[in-house]
Amino acid sequence: MCGIVGAVGHEQCSEVILDALKRLEYRGYDSSGIVTINDGAIALKRAVGKLANLDKALRASPLIGDVGIGHTRWATHGGVSTENAHPHVAADRVAIVHNGIIENHRTIRRRLEAVGHKFFSDTDSEVLAHLFVEALDAGLDPAAATRRVLAEIDGAYAFAMMSIDHPDMLIVARNASPLALGIGDAACYIGSDAIALSHLTRKVVYLEDHDYALVRADGVSVYQADGTPVNREAVMVAASPGLVDKGGYRHYMEKEIHEQPDAIAHSLAAMTDESGRLTAKMSDDELRSINGIVMVAAGTSHYATQIARYWIEALAGVPVACEVASEYHYRQPVTAPYDTAIAISQSGESLDTMMAMRHAAKSGLKTIGLVNVADSTIAREADTVLPTRAGPEIGVASTKAFTAQLTVLLCFAVALARAKGQIDIARAETIHAEIQGLPRLVGKALGLFDAIRPVAHQLSQAKSALYLGRGALYPLALEGALKLKELSYIHAEGFASGEMKHGPIALIEDGLPVVALLAADTVMTKASSNLREASARGGKIILLCEARATDEVDYASAVVTVPDVDPLLAPILLAIPAQILAYLTAVEKGTDVDQPRNLAKSVTVE
Ligand code: AGP
Repeated sequence: MCGIVGAVGHEQCSEVILDALKRLEYRGYDSSGIVTINDGAIALKRAVGKLANLDKALRASPLIGDVGIGHTRWATHGGVSTENAHPHVAADRVAIVHNGIIENHRTIRRRLEAVGHKFFSDTDSEVLAHLFVEALDAGLDPAAATRRVLAEIDGAYAFAMMSIDHPDMLIVARNASPLALGIGDAACYIGSDAIALSHLTRKVVYLEDHDYALVRADGVSVYQADGTPVNREAVMVAASPGLVDKGGYRHYMEKEIHEQPDAIAHSLAAMTDESGRLTAKMSDDELRSINGIVMVAAGTSHYATQIARYWIEALAGVPVACEVASEYHYRQPVTAPYDTAIAISQSGESLDTMMAMRHAAKSGLKTIGLVNVADSTIAREADTVLPTRAGPEIGVASTKAFTAQLTVLLCFAVALARAKGQIDIARAETIHAEIQGLPRLVGKALGLFDAIRPVAHQLSQAKSALYLGRGALYPLALEGALKLKELSYIHAEGFASGEMKHGPIALIEDGLPVVALLAADTVMTKASSNLREASARGGKIILLCEARATDEVDYASAVVTVPDVDPLLAPILLAIPAQILAYLTAVEKGTDVDQPRNLAKSVTVE
C-alpha cells in the first residue's frame, strides 16, 4: 500500500524522508517521490521503480530544505509513471501526498478544470493539490482551507500537504487510512505507520478518522472535522532503530518462515496467564457470554478464520460464520445470531477488514481484534485485542503471522470451550501441552527445504495446479494455493477433496500437479480416496502429510512428511511445507519473492 512520510524542522529533510521511506518499502510500491520547499520554491523529485532510482536522482541533484514530504505509490487510479507518482504539485505552490482513494475525484476534477486548473496526472490524488490552491486563493488560513477541502472529498484518505504560502508547516488529515505524527525534540514527522518514524522518535500521536492537524517543528495541533481542537494522547512506540534486515537469508520471506517456532512460542506465551493456563484475554464470564461468532478477514487471514471455525465449533460448540471482509458490510448481513465479531489482520490496517469490524460494532456485536501490529487501527478500535507476537512481517506473503494467528485462535477455542464447560480442565491442558510442543515440531519441519527443492523445480514448470484438503485441511489447501499464486504467478485453486467429484475433477489431465494435504484425522480415509480418484485420471499427486499418513497413499509422485501431531494442530504444522513449496517454486521462477508484482503488504483501500 502507499507509504507517506514527512518532516518539518529537520536540516536537509530529504535524506531523512528517503531513509524513512525505506522503512515502508515492505508495503509494496511501484514509484516514489520527495518534495521540499527551498528558498520559497517547490523542489520535486520523482522516480518509477524502486527507491534506489529516487536515491540516484537525489544524489545527482539534491533537494534542499527543512520541510518536505515523501511517498511510495502502489498504483490504484492511473498507471505506473513519473507523472502519476506522488508528490503532486499544483500551481508550483502546493504539494500533496495521499494514501487511499478519493471516490468523487472525477466530479471535482471536472469542476476545477472548468475554472482553469491544469492537471498533469491520471490520479485521483492530484485533485487534493488543486483544491488547496483554490482554498488558499480564497484567502483561507491553513485550518479553514483544510476544512473546506475535507468537506468536498469522499472516500478513504491519509494525506499530507505543504505550501509555499505556509513553509513552516505540514497539513495532514486522515479518514480510514492510517497516519501517525512523530514528535521530536526540534522537529516533527508524519508517517503511514510508526515503523517509518521510530528511528527518529518514539513519541507518536495517532490521528483518528476525520481529524486534521497542523504539524510544525515545535509541535502539532490536532482538530476534529468541525475545527474543534482535540488532544490526541501521545504514546511511546517500541523502538526499532535499525532497518528490519534479512538476517542473512536471501529473502524476508525465507527468514520469516524460519522465525515461526519463535512466532508460535511468543504468541502462545501471550495467551498463557500467570498461572500457566490458556487465556483469551477475557474473563470466563465474558467467554461464557459468547454464543455466536462472526469472523471477518481477508486473504490468508480469512483462511485462518476458516480453520479456526473447525476448532471453535468442535471444541466449544459455538456457531461461527467466516466472512470475506470486503463482502460483509455491503451484503446487509443478518447479525442477530451472533454477539461477537473477530477481525483478524496481520497489519491491523486492511481497510476491508476494518470496515467489516466497524459494521459489526455498529450492529451491536462485541469486537475482538486479532492483530500482529499492536498499535494498529483495528487494535485501537476493537473492544478486546488478541495479539499475535510474530514480530514485524516484511515479506508481502504472510507466513509466520498465519501460523501465529492459528496458534492464538486455537488457544482462544480451548479457553472458550473450557469456560463454557464443553471440555474439562484435563482436555484443555492436554491440548495446551500439544501446542507447547509445536515450536519443536515446526523447527523439525523447517528441515524440509532440501526435500522440497526438487518438487518445487518440477512445479515451477506447471501452468496450473490444484490443492486439495479435507476437514480443517481444506482451508489450508486454499491458503497453499494462494501462496503459490501470489509468489510464483502460477494459477492454482484449492478445493475441498470431497468436492472434486462434483465438477472440478474435470480439470484433471495427465501430469496436472495436485498438492494434497493429509493428516491422520477422522477424514483421512475419505480424503485419500478422493486423491486416488484424481491420481487415476492422471493427476500428479504431491503429498504433504504427517509421517503416519504416508501408507494411505501409495501412488504419489512426491511425498513430503512432517512429524506426527495431534490432528487439531495438523493445519498449523502442514502450513510449513506448503509455504516452503510456494517459496522455492517462486525462487525457481525468479519472481520478486518479497514484493510480488501488483501486491501490497497492507491493503488500505477497499
Ligand atoms: C497473504 O499472503 C497476502 N499477502 C494477503 O492475502 C493478506 O493476507 C491479506 O491482504 C490480509 O492482510 P492482513 O492480514 O494484514 O489484514
